[in-house]
Amino acid sequence: MSRRSGPLAPGVALITGGARGLGNAIAVSFAKEGARGVAIVDIQDDATFAEGKKTVEDIGCECLTIRADVTKEADMERAVAEAVAKFGRIDYAANFAGVIGPVKPLSETKLTDWQKTQDVNSTGIFLATKYELRQMMQQSSIEGIEEGRVPQRGSIINCASVNSLLAYPGTTAYTASKHACSGITKAAALEGRKQRVRVNAVSPGFLLTKMLEPLVKDEAHLEAGEAMWRSFVERQGREARFEEVGDVVVLMSLPRMSLVVGQNLFVDGGFTINEGND
Ligand SMILES: NC(=O)c1ccc[n+]([C@@H]2O[C@H](COP(=O)([O-])OP(=O)(O)OC[C@H]3O[C@@H](n4cnc5c(N)ncnc54)[C@H](O)[C@@H]3O)[C@@H](O)[C@H]2O)c1
Repeated sequence: MSRRSGPLAPGVALITGGARGLGNAIAVSFAKEGARGVAIVDIQDDATFAEGKKTVEDIGCECLTIRADVTKEADMERAVAEAVAKFGRIDYAANFAGVIGPVKPLSETKLTDWQKTQDVNSTGIFLATKYELRQMMQQSSIEGIEEGRVPQRGSIINCASVNSLLAYPGTTAYTASKHACSGITKAAALEGRKQRVRVNAVSPGFLLTKMLEPLVKDEAHLEAGEAMWRSFVERQGREARFEEVGDVVVLMSLPRMSLVVGQNLFVDGGFTINEGND
């Protein structure tokens, strides 16, 4: 018996929504834990892609950028193929591309806004999981992990939200899309486990990313936006850091999490178990 040594997460990671925000924090966490390659899949502008790539490469990990829209089947199929052409396989996938969608009462929500939200947050998760599973199911198990571990061909982590369990007035489209993400994860997990691919979800609490800035920092409703944010942070216990989500995704992806299948882990400082704001 000896102490463990070597990188925590050797292998290759593919992250949708990886150019910025929580997706990029995951890319950085994989790089820090010894991934040999990271592919970031996004629809961002060149400057954001370049910044996201640099944060990964500054750690000494090769980073491939792939411009692809998760709502388009041909794009997602190509994204997986490009990552495999470059790195030979995908050991860990994190599906974090997402949009907040319309924040308004259901009775005033346009069908097109509803559909766009489902397209990215639900169909995007379906398509990403589909092509990642196809790749992972046919590749060999990851090497370089501790002897005696249950073999793992791949791990997929889908990004849900506290809105995969709870709701907030004015968030019907987002809440429905995140409940869908949770459902896709469960069914895919039961299919993936037969081939030694684990599929799980994480549900972050509240982090002030670019996705939420327009809501919280809306000049027209600044006081209300900031008050709402304060109440979220109080219920969460404190401000959260992006890397706290990144690190959880890496840990959940490891072969030593072998018995964790189809779960939705709330990474929210206690938000969802808190009845009040204390
Ligand atoms: N910030 C939070 O508090 C919070 C909480 C819970 C869940 N989430 C989820 O985290 C994920 C990441 O969001 P974030 O907060 O980092 O915001 P973000 O806007 O910084 O990141 C989202 C990324 O997804 C990309 N994206 C959007 N549509 C896409 C498409 N069609 N194809 C490819 N990429 C696309 C965007 O370009 C962006 O880079 C989302 O799924 C979001 O719902 C965020």
